Amino acid sequence: MAGNWKMYKTPAETVAFFEKFRPLTGQSDHCEIVICPPFTSLAAAADAAKGSAIRVGAQNIAWAKEGAFTGEISGPMITATGATHVIVGHSERRQYFGETDETVLKRTQAALEFGLSPIVCVGERLEERENGNTEAVLVRQFRKGIAGLTETQFARIAIAYEPVWAIGTGKTATPEIAADAHRTIRAQVREKFGKDGADAIRILYGGSVKPENTRALMAQPEIDGVLVGGASLDPVSFASIVNF
Ligand code: PGA
Repeated sequence: MAGNWKMYKTPAETVAFFEKFRPLTGQSDHCEIVICPPFTSLAAAADAAKGSAIRVGAQNIAWAKEGAFTGEISGPMITATGATHVIVGHSERRQYFGETDETVLKRTQAALEFGLSPIVCVGERLEERENGNTEAVLVRQFRKGIAGLTETQFARIAIAYEPVWAIGTGKTATPEIAADAHRTIRAQVREKFGKDGADAIRILYGGSVKPENTRALMAQPEIDGVLVGGASLDPVSFASIVNF
């Protein structure tokens, strides 16, 4: 169960979140919990999560270790904060910041090289779905991105299916639509990494996940977890998603 805070919460707001969130999820050992604050709140989050099972992740990562890359944050800088995970290729990065399948692969490889667990995002836009291209888009994103990993690297990632039309719009994909897309992705995994890879890979659903729809989504055997934006900002709401 992963929370993506996007561009919300200062370090002080992060500490306040954890104070409320930790007691609500202290007994939650049925799943892994990852919270992804902005870079500037990573250290505060990692510190506030100490002694709990909650893990902290970044929302992006540079493909290089260091160098003349103004505005980028590298793997060693992320791990130095205490974070262990990173979201790669979120649709907002693809849409507004020029992220491509190729850069998603490079960033994922960098995350793995520096010991972080990547959550790699894929998903189609509204017009792609309306034109019947959902499968083609997912296949392309998989083949040009994730398929470039070695088997060992692949074993360390999770995939998030996030249909762009469902993100921040209040329009959740129905559990059936989401499961269908997950099947497409898993079939690609099977083709490239074999049955063991397909059985082991965790595919999260993301896009307007809320406390009210989590149970129905999680009831689909194809859906292994959720990546939550808006509803992860409030400790009570994210805790009720975690404890669905
Ligand atoms: P949302 O965002 O839950 O606010 O739709 C999900 C995401 O973008 O990760």
